[in-house]
Amino acid sequence: MAQVSETLDLSTDKALDRDCTTLSRHVLQQLHSFGPDAQDLSALMNRIALAGKLIARRFSRAGLMEDVLGFTGEVNVQGESVKKMDIYANEVFISVFKQSGLVCRLASEEMEKPYYIPENCPIGRYTLLYDPIDGSSNTDINLSLGSIFSIRQQEGTDLDGEAKDLLTNGRKQLAAGYILYGPSTMLVYSIGKGVHFFTLDPSLGEFILTEENVKIPDHGAVYSVNEGNFWQWDEQYREYIRYVHRTEGYTARYSGAMVSDIHRTLVQGGVFLYPGTLQKPEGKLRLLYESAPLAFLIEQAGGRATTGTVDILDVVPKQLHQRTPLIIGSKQDVAKVESFIQNGH
Ligand code: AHG
Ligand code: MN
Ligand code: MN
Repeated sequence: MAQVSETLDLSTDKALDRDCTTLSRHVLQQLHSFGPDAQDLSALMNRIALAGKLIARRFSRAGLMEDVLGFTGEVNVQGESVKKMDIYANEVFISVFKQSGLVCRLASEEMEKPYYIPENCPIGRYTLLYDPIDGSSNTDINLSLGSIFSIRQQEGTDLDGEAKDLLTNGRKQLAAGYILYGPSTMLVYSIGKGVHFFTLDPSLGEFILTEENVKIPDHGAVYSVNEGNFWQWDEQYREYIRYVHRTEGYTARYSGAMVSDIHRTLVQGGVFLYPGTLQKPEGKLRLLYESAPLAFLIEQAGGRATTGTVDILDVVPKQLHQRTPLIIGSKQDVAKVESFIQNGH
């Protein structure tokens, strides 16, 4: 009898331990510190988690509410039609960070210029870069979507309001990650100490640690690319795709939301590509709030991300909304694509 209750106690302890590892506690544990910088990062991650919960809540009831689905009729700075959820999610991040005190500027896909929160600027030493909804074409069809975020230290006073200090390489990111709105809502993040998965427990309203120090396999079977653009790519990309077509062991998956595709790649390996096209020679994806945060995560998990010639984290942008070709995923699979781009085979 005694033995049974001991076993029971142990398993209860384990479950409780897991349930108590919230995101803010995890950040502090990772930094082995309760100092001001650690407290800041912990608070910042907590605010991102709140934004994720608000967006997830709205998605989960989308069909039941007025004014959630569909387009606004506006076109954003990228020339793309804006969905109502893009605007809602963009404003959610602004609202949660207005109240944090820690962030002076937010730069997003949906805003031409960074948004300043003047009341935070004297103490707000951080900038949030984000894609409020990634894969917004999935909004109206109830498929997976995401949000992508990146935190940088503000450098200098930015008195001219040009935010020039953001035009630096991706290695300057303090933290990066994404929220995946799928069958469950997950938050995946790194502060440069590995990649960690949290899953939203709706009954608790908390993101709970579900996997620590995730490593991407060195190779995976999946290649993930919009093959509808085949005739718009450079010949080297077409040759790579012909290679996977004729080689046994490859299979294709493409969700229309990069966050979902990257999440699968992280867990199961493989490669995701968005090459330049005739219409968009630099591709579609934006460096500062899409490619660089995901590159930071994938490198932390032991994978790679490149433009084809330069590591994504080494690219120095000239503009806030700069686009970049992206090849990201398992080491071996990224190397294979690179060899087609650089050597033609
Ligand atoms: P966003 O919704 O933020 O504009 O990003 C969509 C991105 C990415 O998530 C996805 O992989 C890709 O665009 C899909 O684009 P295509 O339809 O051109 O393949
Ligand atoms: Mn996006
Ligand atoms: Mn978007």
